[in-house]
Amino acid sequence: MARIYLTRKIPEEGIKLLEGHELEIYEGDTPPPKKEIMKKVKDKEGLLCLLTDPIDKEVLDSAPCLKVISTYAVGYDNIDIKEATKRKIVVANTPGVLTETVADFTWALILSIARRIVEGDKIVRQKKFKGWGPLVLVGSDVYGKTLGIIGAGRIGQAVARRAKGFDMDILYFSRKRKKEFERECNAKFVDIETLLKQSDFVSLHTPLTSETYHLIGEKELKMMKKTSYLINTARGKCIDEKALVKALMNKEIAGAALDVYENEPSITPKLAELENVVLAPHAASASIQTRTKMAIIAAENMLAGLEGKMPKYCVNPEVFEMK
Ligand code: DGY
Repeated sequence: MARIYLTRKIPEEGIKLLEGHELEIYEGDTPPPKKEIMKKVKDKEGLLCLLTDPIDKEVLDSAPCLKVISTYAVGYDNIDIKEATKRKIVVANTPGVLTETVADFTWALILSIARRIVEGDKIVRQKKFKGWGPLVLVGSDVYGKTLGIIGAGRIGQAVARRAKGFDMDILYFSRKRKKEFERECNAKFVDIETLLKQSDFVSLHTPLTSETYHLIGEKELKMMKKTSYLINTARGKCIDEKALVKALMNKEIAGAALDVYENEPSITPKLAELENVVLAPHAASASIQTRTKMAIIAAENMLAGLEGKMPKYCVNPEVFEMK
């Protein structure tokens, strides 16, 4: 029996799988303070964490028995993988299961910002709806426009597949060319500058790394068309949020729809005052089905790691070569 610390309650299906072990679960409904994590991991072999928990060198230094970190997320930029690997701690994540759910949500954002759904909802609720008008809430078409995908991994490709139904032209920029994706979606590989200059909707789907930090800043925003929209369901730090606010205030781009923020859960002051934005609370993977599957995978990853086996979704398989 191993001791496992869960930094938050996850769906029951995942907890059940772990029941043969000694579980300690943080009961709060906001992330535990880092000090609390450090205290709790002192005697634990397993840590099941969320993307909101900073699992850095300091936390790892306070966890001498730790064997497995299973994160309830696909993104793992919150974990110092190098330090974990050095300590032969297995790290695993939950890719794949949330692809379609996040792609659906990305589309919800594209349609909401282009067709001004949130603004319209507010008008009706506030009893300001005075009847149909030729110029009321006119937005942009989506059908037939150009979609620019930055990061053509699983999620980026799933977003592009949905664009076929909207008869969109697809441009993409990725570390590697994806020939199969190009064939399937008629997607055109371009450099980032061309993508920013030609797309009507620019959607981010890269992980957060040192290369993608502030990938979209003042210079890149200036390359976009005045009529285009920026969508982010990846990581907030991929965009320079202050530069984005400036671009939105100056109408350098038409709008932005964001699910993630540079310093979550805080947002840059002024962002919430703007009308040409749709703001979601990092909820792109939040469907019952997907969150349940994520819980099962996170638990299975944990169990495999504790048994000394390579989890199905291991982020640092090199640990097994070191053993
Ligand atoms: C992830 O799993 O990394 C997503 O951001 C969750 O929505």
